[in-house]
Amino acid sequence: MRIVILGSGTGSNAEAILKSSAEGQLDGTEVVGVFSDVEDSNILKHSKVYNVPAIYLDPGSQNSIITQELEENWIQEIKSLNPDLIVLAGFMRILSKKILLEFNYKVINLHPSLLPSFPGLHSIEKAFNKKVKITGCTVHWVNEEIDEGEIIAQVPVRIMNSDDLELVKQKVHAAEHMLLPWVIRDLANGTISFLK
Ligand code: GRF
Repeated sequence: MRIVILGSGTGSNAEAILKSSAEGQLDGTEVVGVFSDVEDSNILKHSKVYNVPAIYLDPGSQNSIITQELEENWIQEIKSLNPDLIVLAGFMRILSKKILLEFNYKVINLHPSLLPSFPGLHSIEKAFNKKVKITGCTVHWVNEEIDEGEIIAQVPVRIMNSDDLELVKQKVHAAEHMLLPWVIRDLANGTISFLK
């Protein structure tokens, strides 16, 4: 299974995938490229360490979409790597229907809450401020709506009364770093099915 990762920031989840892969835990998979809309992002730096092609592509705008003029470029560049699965790991853009169709909706996203609770931005802060006692992270199929696609897998994280926000963030991120490689492994070995 050929995997392409898209991300905009720190890249700790891309690193978790690359590390699991390097340790031989993701049989039958290969990360064939990492793309970012942010030229100096750490996600691109991590990928180079693992000798995976790290590609910056201009999104053409500051807002949450890739401009129509540059969208075709994104499609062609990703297509050239012939991916079976696209993994959004901290990618801060909304993919258009056109892009999703080009890749048959074989796109998954990682989100730092137990969806459908706390979609959108700042989910960990929102859960913490709401004083929920259990939060977590979700991997879901991507559709045209933000954080709305079918849920694939989740990991719960307890919030103790003594936890501060920083600790909750650390716990959620640690859960994410386990969950995303697990889902990729299970998609590759058939334990989890692709959408029909
Ligand atoms: C993660 O918390 C993920 O759930 C969210 O963005 C963050 C990306 O972190 N979508 P990183 O860039 O992988 O470190």
